[in-house]
Amino acid sequence: MSVLDLGCGTESVGIAISESLERDVSIHGLDLSGIQLGYAADKGERSGIPLNLYRGSMDMLPFTDKTFDIVVTSVAFCETTSEVRSGAIMEVSRVLKDNGFFAIVDCAKPILGLDTVMMLPFFMFKETADSWNNHYPDLCRESNLILENEAYVKSYVKYQLFRKAD
Ligand SMILES: C[S@@+](CC[C@H](N)C(=O)[O-])C[C@H]1O[C@@H](n2cnc3c(N)ncnc32)[C@H](O)[C@@H]1O
Repeated sequence: MSVLDLGCGTESVGIAISESLERDVSIHGLDLSGIQLGYAADKGERSGIPLNLYRGSMDMLPFTDKTFDIVVTSVAFCETTSEVRSGAIMEVSRVLKDNGFFAIVDCAKPILGLDTVMMLPFFMFKETADSWNNHYPDLCRESNLILENEAYVKSYVKYQLFRKAD
């Protein structure tokens, strides 16, 4: 099974996926930052999990069509512009296999809670309009990615799972 992590940072998510799946999995991580990718490479070596790391922007993926079973992105869409996010969603649809899954974890319109108040300054500096207004299901549907499941994982962070229709 092949997994792509967009905006992978130090690749905590990819390593966690690899450790939790009881089958052969190849992890691919892409990030704009060479520094983050350096940390990811060190973590991969220490954990003994082979990581395939790429430097680039998530709206221009260096992969052929229908390469991946799963694409994930965790708290990275909120660091990009609306144009990059739209481009990334189109690219995800292109590189996913039919019936593959796309998981977005991102800052979302907060539900009431103490941590929401504490995180308000954070939202003031993030490009959160798409997630705040819950635009991802519409953007994804335009690229043949259908919402299957969603839940808040924190009062200000939402998880949404999409499947690529064949
Ligand atoms: C808050 S970190 C999250 C890292 C990791 N996904 C996690 O959950 O720990 C956001 C990451 O997105 C990356 N990033 C921002 N814009 C990007 C883009 N256009 N393409 C790829 N990566 C991007 C940043 O370099 C950063 O490493």
